[in-house]
Amino acid sequence: MKYDRIQIILHWLIALIILTMIGLGLFMVELPKQSELPVGEESVRAFYFLLHKSLGITAAMLILIRIVWRITHKAPVLPASVSKWQQKAAGAIHGLLYLVMLSMPLSGYLQSMYSKYHTKFWGVELPRLAEADTAMREVFSQVHECLAFAFITLILIHIAAAIKHRIEGTGISDRMSLK
Ligand code: HEM
Ligand code: HEM
Repeated sequence: MKYDRIQIILHWLIALIILTMIGLGLFMVELPKQSELPVGEESVRAFYFLLHKSLGITAAMLILIRIVWRITHKAPVLPASVSKWQQKAAGAIHGLLYLVMLSMPLSGYLQSMYSKYHTKFWGVELPRLAEADTAMREVFSQVHECLAFAFITLILIHIAAAIKHRIEGTGISDRMSLK
């Protein structure tokens, strides 16, 4: 038994965006700020930050749709050959992945909201819900960074499990296959 078409498409679309977002996030924070560059050189930092924020909010929307879909459409039952502990472990990792999929864009948005810069969504300025606050920005920046590393760990465990199932030929990896 497989996941339904919508769940499979959303899984791969969101996975692609999240992997891009992690790469983009780690890359952009290393870029020099305008004040660190010699006069006449323009920083590309703001461009990548705006791209990260827009793509991140897009991801959040898709994630919300996915969660609503998942609540209203059950996952296919796992074959009895999968031991009880493995079923529990998979359930726990999937639950944590959903939790981080939600808290990652939320902490990013809050961090952006408390910064002195505006949050734009593909060019459209979003309303400011709170005044800029350096201390709060720093808190959510730390949360966003810690969550990023938790996310990377969970994704690596998740991919390792998928590869293990593929090698063992249990058929589990086909449950999310686009074919
Ligand atoms: C799935 C969603 C997201 C993922 C996977 C993600 C991932 C990341 C990663 C890996 C970093 C680098 C961490 C660091 O070293 O500080 C980062 C930084 C950042 N993210 Fe996100 N992010 C997401 C959503 C968002 C959203 C929705 C916003 C804002 C609307 C946002 C705003 C930021 C900002 C402003 C930084 C720079 C932090 C700093 O300067 O310290 N992120 N993100
Ligand atoms: C990078 C971000 C990824 C995220 C956030 C993610 C998240 C998830 C979640 C939450 C589920 C559980 C679906 C549910 O029951 O609602 C799932 C299932 C699955 N994922 Fe991923 N995934 C990612 C990438 C990948 C990759 C790269 C692979 C393959 C190497 C993969 C293979 C699978 C498979 C085979 C299942 C079905 C497991 C089962 O039948 O119990 N995922 N994924």
